[in-house]
Amino acid sequence: MSLPRLIEALRSQGVADCELAIVLGSGLGVLVERVRNARSIPYADLEGMPKSSVPGHAGKLVIGTLGGKRVVLQQGRVHLYEGFAVEEVTRAVRAFAALGVPELVLTNAAGSLRLDAPPGTLMRITDHLDLQGKARLPRVQAQYGTPWDTTLGSELDAAARQVNQTVPQGVYAALLGPSYETPAEIRMLRKLGADAVGMSTVAEAIAAHGAGMRVCGVSCLTNYAAGITESVPNHEEVVEEGRKASQRFCDLLEAFASRGSQA
Ligand code: HPA
Repeated sequence: MSLPRLIEALRSQGVADCELAIVLGSGLGVLVERVRNARSIPYADLEGMPKSSVPGHAGKLVIGTLGGKRVVLQQGRVHLYEGFAVEEVTRAVRAFAALGVPELVLTNAAGSLRLDAPPGTLMRITDHLDLQGKARLPRVQAQYGTPWDTTLGSELDAAARQVNQTVPQGVYAALLGPSYETPAEIRMLRKLGADAVGMSTVAEAIAAHGAGMRVCGVSCLTNYAAGITESVPNHEEVVEEGRKASQRFCDLLEAFASRGSQA
């Protein structure tokens, strides 16, 4: 079994002492530069850690201090569209949960379905539509409703105010990908109540919450989804817009991490 091996590998790196885990989406890896006393561990050195092949997803874990908190950052995730199983996509967050890390922030790049949320907007995920069509993992504890924690969400809103940012709230729709959506699919998703669309995050949220973590999330809206404007989404734009929003993203996450500490 790979999960017990990954748990032991992460335990030996000190992950059990971490108060917060953050999964970094495409183009959002720069947050690692804000980490003090950072120790960086390539996934290749972690037994049981699945490795991504997507450009913009460096595969390393960074452990250190952010906003005065002990944190573990996952820079690079694996996706269902790469052919990974739900068990693999969620393995790292389940290992964090098993080691007692209490809180998780999931981040991603996503397409915007709202004209009033242009590229560069950071959106707090309040809930999701799981359209990935994959069997869910058995739940470790009884779970009802949404995995997205309203208390952590409010704390993220407070962090946004603290750094003078407007961070709208919205529903993230997860599709399998890997191709971007058609304009007709985006019109459908709008009718279903989605504000943002992407190809990750939801399985991790469900698994982490099921394993006892409190979960919140931020989407960096890197482009208008297909058909919202004339422009057609592409991966280079996604990575580039992520980079442009990265300092605001870092300010927000650092303020969030520093809740309740003096740093
Ligand atoms: N669609 C799906 N996933 C995405 C998009 C998009 O428009 N942008 C970034 N990730």
